[in-house]
Amino acid sequence: MSKILGIGIATLDIINSVNSYPEENSEVRAISQKTVRGGNVTNSLSVLSQLNHQTAWAGTLGCKHDAGIILRDLEKHNINCRYVKTYADGKVPTSYILLNKSNGSRSIVHHRDLPELDFQHFKSIALEDFDWLHFEARNIEQTLLMLQHLKQHFPHIPCSIEFEKHRAGIETLYALADVLIFSKAFCLSSVQSEPEAFLKALSLRFSDKTLILAWGEHGAYAFSQETGMIDSPAYKPALIIDTLGAGDTFNAGIIDALLKGCHLQTALDKASRLAGYKISVDGFDISDYVR
Ligand code: FRU
Repeated sequence: MSKILGIGIATLDIINSVNSYPEENSEVRAISQKTVRGGNVTNSLSVLSQLNHQTAWAGTLGCKHDAGIILRDLEKHNINCRYVKTYADGKVPTSYILLNKSNGSRSIVHHRDLPELDFQHFKSIALEDFDWLHFEARNIEQTLLMLQHLKQHFPHIPCSIEFEKHRAGIETLYALADVLIFSKAFCLSSVQSEPEAFLKALSLRFSDKTLILAWGEHGAYAFSQETGMIDSPAYKPALIIDTLGAGDTFNAGIIDALLKGCHLQTALDKASRLAGYKISVDGFDISDYVR
């Protein structure tokens, strides 16, 4: 069991399940609807908690009424919320999600105007209490300060960071984390959009990093000095139920395996298997997988 701090967002996910993706300007009935806690980093933390790690979340929340569902879910997963910054008149980020039951695809309309966690707040956290920090590559200026602080004062604490989509200045973060996890969408919108060429180009500039690239239904790739270029197949279930947060689950799988001292190839494989399991179930309950 390790102590993991996740820095990033929690959202309110309003999920409408539909039989097929609707046409524009049409009206369809949802088969079901649920409102749950979401957000990349907290999704990953909820999986890491089920893998028996001690987890904590640092992020922001809005007013009590909005935040209730989020806080109750985090509590249910034993995710420590003492580092949360609350904006009493803020509204929690909200995602309106269409989950297509015919293929498990998820389409997200996201709205947020809540400030993200700032460096001043982060600085007050007793980081020495943790074995691993996991970031989302968002709020670039403040995240850069956080990573610099971590490297300067706690260089022995390993950290990972997820790159989901391009944002101005995002590459300034590359040099400061140990494990860089890229999404398929990030790679596809890069100059080098072929997975191996993408990682190879990065490895020439950041040779001491562990570089990981999730590649959806085709598995995942990784590069490190020790292993060179490696990959893992995807473990596609017979029936895909829900792909929402598959990447967040993959990230949790990587962190869990590396914390347990697994070889990178094993970590890639374990994370792909875990993500494969996640898309076979609704939500993030992996208790049958862990058993
Ligand atoms: C899934 C997710 C959702 C959230 C959205 C935020 O990866 O974290 O839970 O609404 O992405 O971008």
